[in-house]
Amino acid sequence: MKSTYEKLFEGNRKWVNDTLEKDPDFFEKLSRGQKPPVLWIGCSDSRVPANEITGTLPGEIFVHRNIANMVIHTDMSMLSVLDYSVNILEVTDIIVCGHYGCGGVLAAMENKPLGIVENWLRHIKDVYRLHQRELDAIKSEELRANRLVELNVIEQVFDLTKTSIVQNAWLNKKKLAVHGLVYDVKNGILNDLDATVNDSSELPKYYLVEKK
Ligand code: CO
Repeated sequence: MKSTYEKLFEGNRKWVNDTLEKDPDFFEKLSRGQKPPVLWIGCSDSRVPANEITGTLPGEIFVHRNIANMVIHTDMSMLSVLDYSVNILEVTDIIVCGHYGCGGVLAAMENKPLGIVENWLRHIKDVYRLHQRELDAIKSEELRANRLVELNVIEQVFDLTKTSIVQNAWLNKKKLAVHGLVYDVKNGILNDLDATVNDSSELPKYYLVEKK
């Protein structure tokens, strides 16, 4: 009986063969470099893989994932991915994708001692505080959690637009849109939250970065 770990290599060889059958030059072409037009910031949750749920192939989406798809301004990993995506890859679209049933968001709504991750989840509690009136008015716990998932995505979109990286791209007249999406693990459907930001016109002025 093979372990899940051992099966990974079987799966890999099968995938290589299937891919080459469809396109014999696939790996040769990809080995020349990447120019993905989209940056995806998603949750680490194993049920929400960026390529599979969007029907895209390797080379099409640059991906950053963490618990609950957060944009934390002191997170060097996120900032490095964002800077590289915007300034080197020159992506035209950034997606923040949350998902219903997110363990990070559900944990942030509780008070269980969880150790280190509490510090990460506290940023989601801050989102709750910002929207407390709306959230507290939702009686169903599931619907309240779903709305927090959506509001958290919208706040992370806002957090992206606060960065000098995104604002400098706009100051330099680069075409760059930041989108908020939510994925439903119950039916596989991905929806746009209608939270797209294309420029800094809606940003409160104290967040604005001046041109160097
Ligand atoms: Co999640």
